[in-house]
Amino acid sequence: MRLSSIRARVLYLSGIFALLLVGSVTLATYFFVADGMSRSAQETTWRLTHIASRAIARTTTTVKLDAAAEGLEGVDREHEAQRQLLRAIPDILGSGGAEEGAYAFYLEDEDSGLSLVWYSADEGIVDLEAQRLDAIDRQQPVQSGPGQRSALTGMLTSADLGNYIVHVPLTLPDKTQGVLDVVYTPDKEEAILDSARAPMLIVAVFAFIVAVLMMQIIMSWVLSLVDNVRVAADSIEAGQLDVHLPEEGEHEIADLAHALNNLMDRLRLRAEAQTRFVADASHELATPVAGIRGYVNILREWGSEDPITRDEAVTAIDRESLRMAKLCGDLLSMIRSDEMLEYRHVRYDINALSREVLATTATRFIDKGLEFIGPDEGPLWAVGDPDRIEELLGILLDNAGKYTPEGGSVVVSTSRQRDHVTVNVKDTGVGIPEQDLPNVFERFYRSDASRSKDTGGFGLGLAIAKHIVDMSQGVIRVSSHVGEGTVFHIELPRTRMKE
Ligand SMILES: Nc1ncnc2c1ncn2[C@@H]1O[C@H](COP(=O)(O)OP(=O)(O)OP(=O)(O)O)[C@@H](O)[C@H]1O
Ligand SMILES: [Mg+2]
Repeated sequence: MRLSSIRARVLYLSGIFALLLVGSVTLATYFFVADGMSRSAQETTWRLTHIASRAIARTTTTVKLDAAAEGLEGVDREHEAQRQLLRAIPDILGSGGAEEGAYAFYLEDEDSGLSLVWYSADEGIVDLEAQRLDAIDRQQPVQSGPGQRSALTGMLTSADLGNYIVHVPLTLPDKTQGVLDVVYTPDKEEAILDSARAPMLIVAVFAFIVAVLMMQIIMSWVLSLVDNVRVAADSIEAGQLDVHLPEEGEHEIADLAHALNNLMDRLRLRAEAQTRFVADASHELATPVAGIRGYVNILREWGSEDPITRDEAVTAIDRESLRMAKLCGDLLSMIRSDEMLEYRHVRYDINALSREVLATTATRFIDKGLEFIGPDEGPLWAVGDPDRIEELLGILLDNAGKYTPEGGSVVVSTSRQRDHVTVNVKDTGVGIPEQDLPNVFERFYRSDASRSKDTGGFGLGLAIAKHIVDMSQGVIRVSSHVGEGTVFHIELPRTRMKE
């Protein structure tokens, strides 16, 4: 796999994307679980604080009543109650639901400092003197801890939620101030976090692998479709145009395959038309060449002795060479149309142009005694290339002259429509059989092979005419009845054509 290939790039990107996505989901989940555990630890700390405070308050009342019941008075009674309370504290805090926490009990001494008088476990002793004094000042419980917790706590190492501490101010029977530190170490919550780590990491790695694999599978599918397109491009390059790409599916690559198939169909049709054209043209050229060679041989053999044969041969060579010259001219005209050489857009008078072409054509068919009639109205303006339109009219009138028997007539009539002019070229000639009408505009098509001998054409005239009309953005139609005549109907734009 090349490093710059699409597959490699998608692999990096999908890897990075999957890592970011899976990583952030895992971290967020872990963060919320850790936060929940921390909140649960906090609630537990406050629950322990309430249990301890209520138990101490209840016991204080009891010991005061006991001291009074013993008949003690004043300071003695207070001292006795105090003594009993301090003795009872370990029992109070070691039962009744309070045993989950660790406790330390501080009493105010003469230096107005606080000194530790009792603790339940080592975890209960915390160095937070200022917070304890603060609790006494405010006469309400003050919370310390758990301190700043890392967002990733427990993600990679074992969980550490910190310690949760509440300092509870107490007023003892002898009026001295005390502080009870309630300390909760969240071992239970940390254990839950620790046990979640391994499964979460496994799920994250699994999700990462699945995401990358899925991207690769999708990529392979897309690339296999693209590969078909590459095969098509290779075969076009190799000149092979009969490849058909699969177009199944409602996706962009199927659209591309469809467009390429259309392109290849068009190229194939064009290539076939070109091959046919070259074959037909060579064939048409071969006939006069063969004729000329034949007459040259005749000249060599008998030319010097027999003047009649010589004259016949020279006339035939002249005729055949003229035929070749005409074919070459037609082929050139065809190529010019194919290359869409510059086409002018100028105003011209179609009536005057028709009359000119009619006059020239009439001289060529003078011995046939045909009647040529043109439009006699004033100017009728159209827009296009008058040279090409002249060529077009020449082709149609040449056909009319060729295919109309002696004594017939050829009429050109024009009319003006809203956005175009129409030109009708009508003759009283032999007509075109109905089955040939759809083909007469094809190159080298001749309606009746027997006629080709008499008229000496190549079947290129109407193909060139159609090209000229197409380039003029016009329309050409033909209607004909055998034995009655033929009408060519042309529409040409009156205004400047759209590019
Ligand atoms: N006015 C017409 N009357 C009868 N047949 C026609 C007429 N015009 C064309 N055709 C028929 O259509 C065929 C094609 O015409 P086209 O002008 O393309 O070729 P051509 O006249 O045979 O040869 P070229 O014009 O190349 O010298 C002709 O061979 C002829 O059979
Ligand atoms: Mg012709």
